[in-house]
Amino acid sequence: MNRLSVNAARKNDAIGREVRLSGWIRTRRDSKGGFSFLEINDGSSLGNLQVIADGELRNYESEIKHLSPGSSVTIEGEVKASGGKGQATEVHAASVVVHGLADPERYPLQKKRHSFEKLREWAHLRPRTNTFGAVMRIRNRICRSIHEFFQDEEFVWIHTPIITASDCEGAGEMFRVSTLDLTNPPKTDNGNVDYARDFFGRAAYLTVSGQLEGEIYATALSKIYTFGPTFRAENSNTSRHLAEFWMVEPEVAFYELADNMALAERFLKRIVGDVLADCGEDMDFFQQRIDDTTMDRLEKVSIGTFQHLTYTNAVELLQTSGQDFEYPVAWGHDLQAEHERYLTERHFESPVILYDYPATIKPFYMKVNDDAEPDRSTVRAMDVLTPGVGEIIGGSQREDRLDVLEERMRKQDLDLSEYWWYRELREFGTVPHSGFGLGLERMVQFVTGMANIRDVIPFPRTPGNAEF
Ligand code: 4AD
Ligand code: MG
Repeated sequence: MNRLSVNAARKNDAIGREVRLSGWIRTRRDSKGGFSFLEINDGSSLGNLQVIADGELRNYESEIKHLSPGSSVTIEGEVKASGGKGQATEVHAASVVVHGLADPERYPLQKKRHSFEKLREWAHLRPRTNTFGAVMRIRNRICRSIHEFFQDEEFVWIHTPIITASDCEGAGEMFRVSTLDLTNPPKTDNGNVDYARDFFGRAAYLTVSGQLEGEIYATALSKIYTFGPTFRAENSNTSRHLAEFWMVEPEVAFYELADNMALAERFLKRIVGDVLADCGEDMDFFQQRIDDTTMDRLEKVSIGTFQHLTYTNAVELLQTSGQDFEYPVAWGHDLQAEHERYLTERHFESPVILYDYPATIKPFYMKVNDDAEPDRSTVRAMDVLTPGVGEIIGGSQREDRLDVLEERMRKQDLDLSEYWWYRELREFGTVPHSGFGLGLERMVQFVTGMANIRDVIPFPRTPGNAEF
């Protein structure tokens, strides 16, 4: 007896095989002829498998006729060609073992559709819905592509730490990691909490980015990437921000900004191409049920070329666009989501890479451009903006000149001694190098068209929310 997934049993080449399948009932329909149709799903595909359970089965009256959505079963039987519409196969059950019933009075996932907000309260059951099953299969395919892309290009996967003492983005949005007694912490003579007596002998935090540690390995192994959870204690309740998200960050020695942009474009094209090639059934679902612009968006990434535009040119374009933006556009200020979306969704209708941002709005590690006017100093930053999501990638060429780096750090009031190892990378065999970070959840949003980032991660962490 072959144990098959529902996905495998739905395919033509399973016809004629005796199989064992396990999963959860989606629906049961009893026929007048004294048998029942069971729709089974095990998460291996969007579609269900139809099982025909004959009235002659030993537990037909006692158990099978009580199966309701959410009940768990193991079926043995033969896969046959199906005469039914929209399915190649069905299984004629020789036995149906019931593992557990699901009380229809209490199981929330009945025929009725629930809002995504409601489903978030049932994060333990929502993976059993069509939408969340499809999201997680796509998320998995994207992660596989990420590794395959970098491994094919000879990158080394580096595991940068989750707990760190350095603030990469310098935005002060870190979660503290401490074992001190909050009600009675040790104090220094001047009354501050004495973190020297904390677990690590110093203040420690959850990482906001693996980049700085990534740079250490890139300046030794040349091409590296880090991929893992990232934490930001920013109090933003938007459809694109999480307090815990996954980021993939390549870092490459001897790469200048143009190489970095080309890498980002190749990378996004590869992910989208893989999803389009392998996830047809799930993508049809997103196109039809979630967002009918999804396929169009993906095709633009997969075959179109990305627009490149300096920040300064983008500001001019926005200022002369005739649009009535909520936030005004001014050189030296961060672009708002509405501005980014105008550029990528309305003006260019394609992915856009903005680069050369004002130095004052970007972190200390970005390489300063030489040719800027003194009061309009820019850095070699790049953001990739995509229709539907806005900023999906942020990156830059890194400052490789020790004196310029230290001057920038002083301007941003950073304690140079804390970054002694980062500075030494510029002292010993410094090289031009570049990298970027892709937010995994924003990529899943881009691919699926899911409107809220809370619905593309299994257990979203946002201000005020850490259940499950
Ligand atoms: O632009 P960010 O902040 O860049 C960095 O962290 C760099 N150190 C990356 C690098 O150069 N190695 O973040 C990179 C990306 C963003 O473009 C976005 O996709 C995602 O990470 N991101 C978030 N995703 C979800 N929730 C949040 N709060 C996010 N903050 C950033
Ligand atoms: Mg950014």
